[in-house]
Amino acid sequence: MNIKTSIRETIQSDITSLKILYKKAFTDEDLFPLVTELLNDKQNTFMLSALHDGDLVGHIAFTKCHAKPSEIALSLLGPMAVLPLYQGKGIGTDLIKEGFNHLKKSGVEKAIVFGDPNFYGRSGFTIESNIEPAYSIAEEYIPGWQSISFSNTASAVSGKLQVTRPWQRQDLW
Ligand SMILES: CC(C)(COP(=O)(O)OP(=O)(O)OC[C@H]1O[C@@H](n2cnc3c(N)ncnc32)[C@H](O)[C@@H]1OP(=O)(O)O)[C@@H](O)C(=O)NCCC(=O)NCCS
Repeated sequence: MNIKTSIRETIQSDITSLKILYKKAFTDEDLFPLVTELLNDKQNTFMLSALHDGDLVGHIAFTKCHAKPSEIALSLLGPMAVLPLYQGKGIGTDLIKEGFNHLKKSGVEKAIVFGDPNFYGRSGFTIESNIEPAYSIAEEYIPGWQSISFSNTASAVSGKLQVTRPWQRQDLW
């Protein structure tokens, strides 16, 4: 059964809860350093936290990016996490939906994600074949390179993705 959470912008004091969340959601990967760097880069990153009974149970990050030479505003979704006990209750989908509302309002024309197509496909993401990832992706993960366009012009954007410093690490791709 789905759970309704209240979703608000992530604030600095969420940091302790975020550490626990990412540790519990990702057992074989430490994404907390990335989350911390993104949280400190407010100029380029937008984050949402989902709360249930006052506890932080889910989180999503969106970072500004573009595909050179195009100047069209794009956003890279990730990372995102939901506490294991709360997974499969619609929280992740709600966070994506709320994130899209914000992106559209702020003039972003396309969101990009590198993740499981079975999950992100449910929110409208499809395979991205015009924009090249910032770093090389292993062949078996290519179906995970996806996007969703919010405008017609964005569908035609091509080029290599340019990412902010926290994302400039081959091991994240
Ligand atoms: C991926 C994640 C953020 C999804 O959040 P969530 O709140 O569980 O998502 P929802 O409840 O909105 O999921 C909707 C559906 O997608 C399914 N789903 C979730 N993760 C999936 C995955 N990796 N592969 C396939 N299906 C998935 C759920 O089973 C659910 O299906 P159902 O409604 O038919 O039961 C969460 O499961 C999670 O934190 N996983 C571990 C960390 C992770 O992989 N993060 C994403 C990569 S950055």
